Formats: sequence, structure tokens, C-alpha cells
Amino acid sequence: MRKKFIAGNWKMNTSRADGTALAAAIAAKVGQSTDVEVAVCPPALYLEAVGKAISGSTVGLGAQNCYHEAKGAFTGEISPPMLVDIGCKYVIVGHSERRAILKESNHDVNRKLLAALSARLLPIVCVGETLDERKAGRTTAVVREQMEGSLAGLTAEQMAQVVIAYEPVWAIGTGVVATPEQAEEVHADLRKLLETRYNPQLASSVRIQYGGSVNADNAAILLSQPNIDGALVGGASLKAEGFLAIVAAAKAAS
Ligand code: PGA
Repeated sequence: MRKKFIAGNWKMNTSRADGTALAAAIAAKVGQSTDVEVAVCPPALYLEAVGKAISGSTVGLGAQNCYHEAKGAFTGEISPPMLVDIGCKYVIVGHSERRAILKESNHDVNRKLLAALSARLLPIVCVGETLDERKAGRTTAVVREQMEGSLAGLTAEQMAQVVIAYEPVWAIGTGVVATPEQAEEVHADLRKLLETRYNPQLASSVRIQYGGSVNADNAAILLSQPNIDGALVGGASLKAEGFLAIVAAAKAAS
């Protein structure tokens, strides 16, 4: 049984005060519940404050990015051990905004992923096609290539610690959500890829989140698909009520 996993990716939003209030409201509702795995990923600067706001609850703390080295002369970067030190359990790597705007390659994502794993962070690895790629019928090829490149060199033992997030670029922040069928088709294919790369047992245990305009209204139908194991939520994670409704939908679909 794969436990549903709902993570809020706050991106470059909230103030310190807004972020801690949002986290506290989520933690108050989630409490000690373990039915659904829940995480919040605030801006790096607010990780410590948000970590305090969720302490005592089962809500986990996640970072939105990390560097691939543990320490050294890398001005402005933040390492996986530093994220662990501040209380992080998760880190998002390879988000499409970083791939597109900051030109992160699959190789960069792979190095971050390996560094995160050696620091014992649980990585959420994002993959997803653009609208042009989908229109050209290249969705499967593009997403598989991102998977192969990002997961290069990972042992089965390491892969067991990883969560995949399928986030079609055209659905992110647009309000245009993938249909449950579109999402399920890619999720099923990604699981097939994991089966070939590793083994059926591992493939059936890896969680694959969907991301891209998930909200309180569409969460239930997406989360009821057989291969959709959770959601990486952007815009709708910035309001406690909306985010908690997605968590409730995940519980209902479990
Ligand atoms: P969105 O973002 O929910 O605002 O579409 C999702 C994401 O980028 O992780």
C-alpha cells in the first residue's frame, strides 16, 4: 500500500508571518494524523520558522531546492546537510521552473538528487512535458528521458527513498489541470519504467505525485486514479483551507 503524500510547494511566496501562520493552521488540523503524509515546502529563508510552527504535528518540512555539494565555496547555495540541520525531511529537485528559468539539466537534477540522498533527505523529483511536447506526441519520450537522466546511477535502495512528481508544465499555475486519464496514463508509464529499471516490487512501492493546478475541487478525482499517489500543490497550498481540503480528499481516496 502506497500512503498518499500531499506536499505544498509555496514557491517564492508568503512572508515570514504569513508562512508561519499558514503552517500553524495546517499543523493544527493535521495534528498527529498519519493517514496521509503531509509536507510544506516554504522558501528556504523561512524553513526554520515554519519548522517551529509545525513541530509536534506529523506535518513534514521540505525545501524547494538544494545544491549538490555538502559544503564549500559555493556562494549563495544551500547544501543538503544544512537542510537536514534546520529540520528538513524532504527536498524538491528538478522543478520545471528551475529546469526552465534556471536552466537546470537532468545531470544537475541527478547530482542534487544523489547529494540529497547521501544527506538522508527524501527527494521529490519533478518531471513533466511542455505543451508543445505534448502536442507533438512526445510526452512519453520526454518524461522518460527526464526520469532516466535524473535517476542515473540510483540503486534500488536509493530509489526506494524517492518520490516522483509528474507535473505537466502546461498545467502548472495555469488553472488547466490534466484530466485524470491524461495524468494516469503518464503515471502508469512511469511505474512501468521503474519496473524495467528496477523490479516490480520497488515499482509498486514508489509514490508518484501529480502536480499542476491541483485544487480542492479536482483533487478527489485525480487522487482516485490507481497510479496517482498524492499531489504536489502550488497555488492551492497557500491557503490552509484549500490545502487541507486536498489532504482530506487524499484521505478519502486512501
Ligand atoms: P500549481 O503548481 O499547483 O500552482 O499549478 C504546482 C507546482 O508547480 O508544483
